[in-house]
Parts: sequence; C-alpha cells; structure tokens
Amino acid sequence: MSNKELRVAVVGAGKWAERAHIPGWQRDPRVEVAAIVDLDPAVGKEVADQFGVARAVTDYREVLDDPTIDVIDVAAGNDAHFEVSWAALEAGKHVLCEKPVHRDARETARAAALAKSNNLKTKLGFTFRYAPAIQYAKDLIDAGFVGEPYVFNGYEQNSQWIDPTTPLRQAEQTPIGDGDIAVSSIEGYGAPVIDIMHWWSGSPMTNVVGTMRNFVPSRVLRSTGKMERMNIDDGDMWICEFEDNVMASIQSSYVTVGNYPGIEVRLYGSEGAVIVRLVEEFGICQTIKTATKNAVEFVESEIPEKYFPVGGTSREEWPSLFYSNLIRNFVDEIVGEAPESQGDFAQGALVQRTINAFERSHRERRWINFNEVEGA
Ligand SMILES: NC(=O)c1ccc[n+]([C@@H]2O[C@H](COP(=O)([O-])OP(=O)(O)OC[C@H]3O[C@@H](n4cnc5c(N)ncnc54)[C@H](O)[C@@H]3O)[C@@H](O)[C@H]2O)c1
Repeated sequence: MSNKELRVAVVGAGKWAERAHIPGWQRDPRVEVAAIVDLDPAVGKEVADQFGVARAVTDYREVLDDPTIDVIDVAAGNDAHFEVSWAALEAGKHVLCEKPVHRDARETARAAALAKSNNLKTKLGFTFRYAPAIQYAKDLIDAGFVGEPYVFNGYEQNSQWIDPTTPLRQAEQTPIGDGDIAVSSIEGYGAPVIDIMHWWSGSPMTNVVGTMRNFVPSRVLRSTGKMERMNIDDGDMWICEFEDNVMASIQSSYVTVGNYPGIEVRLYGSEGAVIVRLVEEFGICQTIKTATKNAVEFVESEIPEKYFPVGGTSREEWPSLFYSNLIRNFVDEIVGEAPESQGDFAQGALVQRTINAFERSHRERRWINFNEVEGA
C-alpha cells in the first residue's frame, strides 16, 4: 500500500471511467486508484492493466469491506448508482457518483442525509460546473460583476443522436414510452445546466413550466440492433421563477445541430453579463465572454491559470480537463482544504427535484409550484 492520502476504488470500468474518472484521480498526487471493479472480469482486468492499478474485482462489496479504501467512485451505468452509493455510505466511504443518483429526488435526498449523518463527503458527476470558465464566471458573479442577477439562460444542445441509426445509450437506461413520452434529454443532458442555474441564480426556485418533444420517432436500439419506436424526450424547453427578482430558461436536446457538449450558460444582471460556452469547436473546449452596461459589446476574457488543473489548457479534451478539476475539488473537500461541499448529493437532489417538477408540468400541462414536488 502506498503512502497517498486517499485510496479510491472505481466501480464501473466503461468508457467514461477510462476517459474522465481514472485519469482525473491519477492526475492528483494525493490519490492512489487502488482497485477497479467491473461486473465483467475481462473489462475490469484490461482497464486495471491499462492504468497500472494492482487490483481488479467483480463485486463492489469486496472493496466496501476493505478498510484501506477511503472513497468509492460510482462510474457504472445508471442502474447501479443508488445501490452502490447507498452501500458505500453505509460502509463509511466518501462517494463520487455519476448522475442521477436516483431518478426520484426523494431517494437522492435520503442518500444525502445518510452521508451527512455519517459525516461523509459526496459529489455528483456535474462535470461542467468544474470547467475552468464556469468556475471563473462564478467568482466574477460573486465579486459583483453582473450586479443583481436578472435573467439566466441555460442550453445543453448537441446533435450526437440526430441520426436515428446511431444507437442511443440512454435508451437502454430509460423506460421507452410508447404511449406518453419518456423523460430522456432533460435528465441525461439538461441536468448540468439546471445545476449551474441553481448555483448562479442563488435564489430558491418557486415555479416551473415547460414541455418535452419527440422529434426523431424511431431509432436503432443498441441491444437489438433494430429500429424501434422510441417516444422519448429528445428536446425540451422550460421557464423557472425564483423567490428573488430573477428568472431562468432551460433548453436541452441531443438532436439540435452543434458539437458536444453543447452547453451555453448566460447570466444577465443590473451591472453586466457573462456568457460561457462549453462547446468543442476548432480544438477549443471553452470560452467566456463578458460585457458591462457601459461597454455592451461582449469580449472574450482570458481564464486565469489558477482555474486549470496542473498542465491543463483550453485545448485539452474537455472530459479530462473538467473532470480533473472535479476530482481535485473533491479531494480538497475530503482532506479539509475546501471549506464547503459543492455539487454534492444534496445539490443532486435539488437538480433531480427540478427535473421531476419539469416532468409534472409537461404531463399536467400547467405551472408547477416547486413546493408541490417532494425531494428537499
Ligand atoms: N457526467 C458526464 O458528463 C457523463 C458523461 C458520460 C457518461 N456519464 C455517465 O457515466 C456512467 C457510465 O457511462 P459509460 O459510458 O462509461 O457506460 P458503459 O456502459 O461504457 O460502462 C459501464 C460499466 O459499468 C459496469 N457495471 C455496471 N453495473 C455494475 C456494477 N453493479 N458493478 C460493477 N460494474 C458495473 C459495466 O460492466 C460496464 O463495463 C453512466 O451513468 C453515464 O450516464 C456521465
């Protein structure tokens, strides 16, 4: 065993673990990735070998029983998120989990409460709040750059599933409605901008309204390889009201032309405005533009170096750049170098509750008072 401050077990050795999670942990000198867990022994072994991790197992309970493991990272598919996170918190481990922890906000809130009562840290895979441009914008907002916030707009729109013959990973994880439309894009893709909306607007949400659409009616299902009717939300629009004098709009879609991730967030206030784009274009994965009421033409700002992980630049691939910051921040929180927890399971419950409220607004064709929706 090494003398690193934290030892981590990564549960789920799929593409996202390879691209974002494991490189992020290994970039932090305080951390050792001590075990890889995957139901498929060949996958677990291959990924462990690739990253020089000594131990590969198939049952996550083995790493929960190991007192030398401090953190469980749940990078498996959605079905495993809640079960593994809950068991890890019961076993006294800090937990990083991909979103959603649970599709029902009440269950995510229950997991947040368990973590709090066991004095454990949690973090959700809200990748985009850790983009250097987003963190820098938040500091500008806190320093008063926009003044009193008025309007937030959040878009997560890309076209990665505009072609019906591209199998949709989410469709395997989402109930496919043949009658009523099933929630898909707003949960899988809207969640990051909903997270940033709550964080930047800084005010409790009061009411929501909106609607979902199914633009591409049939798609190839990965498990069968056949075209199937899929009545899923592949595009949606929402309006939100808050206790303070601020309002927000959210749009998400994966059939709208543009590159991944396709995030744009804007905050307009009494003094100025910031626009951050996280869209990979011509080798650059992020930009921040700002304007003030006295200089209304938006200009691009340089992101100070302190917002980047060691060696990072805006030309790096976004999964490793943003995820390295997420993990660095989580390690800071666990070892006590960051005063408060950001993007934790409590925030995950708020985001999931918002998605649950949006869904209810669509189903009932009316404004929903946020207090009507459980999960706080
Ligand atoms: N935050 C983001 O920006 C972002 C981006 C991509 C993916 N994701 C999320 O990351 C997760 C993984 O995505 P992926 O593309 O790597 O999926 P994947 O299907 O490629 O890999 C998942 C792996 O988990 C393993 N697994 C499933 N259940 C398990 C269990 N109970 N114990 C151990 N291993 C288990 C599978 O065998 C598989 O190898 C998903 O929830 C996905 O939604 C998040």
